[in-house]
Amino acid sequence: MTDKQIFICDQCGNEFSKWYGQCPACQAWNSLKSIPSHTKTVGGRKVNNSKIKLTITKASQVFESNVNRVATNIGEVDRVLGGGIVPGSLILLAGQPGIGKSTLASQIGLNLSRQQPILYLAGEENPPQIKLRLKRLSRTIPDNFWFAAETKVEVLMALDKLKTKPCLIIIDSIQTMSTDLVGTQAGSPSQIKLAANLLMQIAKKNNLPIIIIGHVTKEGSIAGPKLLEHMVDTVIQFEGDANHAYRILRAVKNRFGTTNEIGLFTMEANGLKQVDNPLSLFSSELETPIPGSATSVIMEGERPILVEIQALVNPSNLTIPRRVAQGIASNKLIMLSAIISRRLGLSLANYDVFVNVTGGLNIKEPAVDLATTLAIISAYKQKAIPTKTATFGEVGLLGEVRPASFWQRRAKEAKRLGFNQTLATKPTLLKTVVKNLF
Ligand code: TYD
Ligand code: MG
Repeated sequence: MTDKQIFICDQCGNEFSKWYGQCPACQAWNSLKSIPSHTKTVGGRKVNNSKIKLTITKASQVFESNVNRVATNIGEVDRVLGGGIVPGSLILLAGQPGIGKSTLASQIGLNLSRQQPILYLAGEENPPQIKLRLKRLSRTIPDNFWFAAETKVEVLMALDKLKTKPCLIIIDSIQTMSTDLVGTQAGSPSQIKLAANLLMQIAKKNNLPIIIIGHVTKEGSIAGPKLLEHMVDTVIQFEGDANHAYRILRAVKNRFGTTNEIGLFTMEANGLKQVDNPLSLFSSELETPIPGSATSVIMEGERPILVEIQALVNPSNLTIPRRVAQGIASNKLIMLSAIISRRLGLSLANYDVFVNVTGGLNIKEPAVDLATTLAIISAYKQKAIPTKTATFGEVGLLGEVRPASFWQRRAKEAKRLGFNQTLATKPTLLKTVVKNLF
């Protein structure tokens, strides 16, 4: 049997069994690179019948030692990972440049290195830069925090030669790593795929977890981390807004846990701090209530988070008044404004309406309809909503309010944070809510 050649497009990362001058998938010219057939990397296409053996193990008799997770002791990280890092697992930490991926990975590394060695493979920064960051994050730097300024993943093959093995490897970042298996540039799809494949083999062979940092751009133009998603065990995404301090860590894929957990952090001068009370993050927390503010509870996965919706209603001099929304969809604002005009008889026709979600959150849930509507009405009437009132409900075109999904959990969280009045726990009419409130 002859070895099969594999060709991989350096632009889009698709694989083909023969060479084309133009990639059939993305139409790029001269982008197909051949992958050496001896690498078992891309699907291990090299098949030799005589060597194939199928080993069957009884599931009931499998030894379960592998699932002893290593806690990072950063509660929010452990929560997202489902209790800690699973030995031998490949974790992709994805996020936009500058969001704090290196910082988070360093903090995890620092924590673990207080017990056992960890290895930070730095392709982006030089040792003094890494040291500078570590000094910002921790007063003492454990001797067990090792780093190597390397860009070739092959160096990890030499792990066997170390007397003591690290308990975690951090790769910062996959875009700067390359392998000699293909002659393409670091960061190209073929490099990313092959490098990740090598990392996977190293992780499984040594039962050693590896965190791979991957940059994603806003436009998603760097295909890198997307290519990796199906290869790794866990994908955690670090999100946030450069103009705000809060960061959300979200599990997008997790072979060893749920994807419903999120971790909340703020970026401070000396690293990421965990957030226990999200209320302070997403609301202005004014002592005396001001018209135009309403509080709602959104669900981020399994976790209820209180948010503040602010509205400003101002006489307009335009034929078509403005409807400007930050943090909720503009169409939603137009619809809610129409419902207010039509169902409550409060004409907004000559007013500009601005709505903003504080903290820079982007909300897609209909549960904030009611808070948005009440914030607009409150701004229009210049009457504040009583303090410590949280609302969560969907507003329909007929002017009806339906309780949001999981309203019990939202109500419980609001109560925990001192909100004594919760609205829309039963189906009702917007008219009734407004009459009782103002
Ligand atoms: P970084 O972790 O380098 O981001 P990424 O690896 O995702 O590109 O951190 C990004 C920003 O965070 C950087 O602009 C500086 C800031 N920062 C702090 O505010 N506090 C800190 O303690 C550290 C280490 C960084
Ligand atoms: Mg970085």
